[in-house]
Amino acid sequence: MSDGKLWDPPRRRPLDPAALSAAAGPAWRVEYAEAAPSTNALAADHPEAGLVVVVDHQTAGRGRLDRSWATPAHVSLTMSAVLEPDLPPERWPLLPLIAGVAVATAVGPRAKLKWPNDVLIDDQKVCGILVERPAAFPSYAVVGIGINVDQVRSELPLPTATSLRLAGLDVDRTELFGAIVAGLRDGLAELRSDPGAALQTYRTHSATLGRSVSVYLPDDRVVHGLACEIDDDGKLVVETPTERLVVGAGDVVHARLD
Ligand code: BTN
Repeated sequence: MSDGKLWDPPRRRPLDPAALSAAAGPAWRVEYAEAAPSTNALAADHPEAGLVVVVDHQTAGRGRLDRSWATPAHVSLTMSAVLEPDLPPERWPLLPLIAGVAVATAVGPRAKLKWPNDVLIDDQKVCGILVERPAAFPSYAVVGIGINVDQVRSELPLPTATSLRLAGLDVDRTELFGAIVAGLRDGLAELRSDPGAALQTYRTHSATLGRSVSVYLPDDRVVHGLACEIDDDGKLVVETPTERLVVGAGDVVHARLD
């Protein structure tokens, strides 16, 4: 470079906290840090309804089922939104599903949901979501969302992962953030007023319904069958040759489509 600077591709610029606040609107209070171990941990530390924590480089992200979530600086959207759901206990398990819908809607029609809430494009994972209920503040839900936005292939942890950029989608992280927090508010409102409709919306985004799946259950069993239903509790119903299994937690792998 003639001026001695390294090339800085436009999508690798740091996030701007003022722009994030403007994109979120007055219903949200954005807390931004350039780097931090985990947005979920930060948000769970001092939850309040409408707080949303964003970091540009998350260094020790937490994933579902005790996994980690690794992302380089400036290329991903790592955020945790705090909700005070005020829901009857039986509706709390639907929160992870409506979070998936909020992200899929914000990403656009190519985004589909692998049960419960992995966001896929072309059957590859582009976003993971971890909803936690802080033990010290049980009236709150921390909705942690990690989206691979601008990663190139070598920056992704697994061959089954992708980024919006690799999928050919040129997406601005700040605009995406604004769309997601708006979708979370809408989804929670619908879950409060009409949970049946919220579930029906979820089903329309599902990539799992109707697919042959393997389900890795928390007790280490693995079942293979047809994902035939998402029931009114948000659980996945899998039909195997010997049983009809209702799954509340587990890791789903879709059989290949070819
Ligand atoms: C998964 O295992 O698929 C869920 C991954 C969730 C990652 C996000 S990134 C932002 C938020 N903070 C965390 O520590 N984890 C979630």
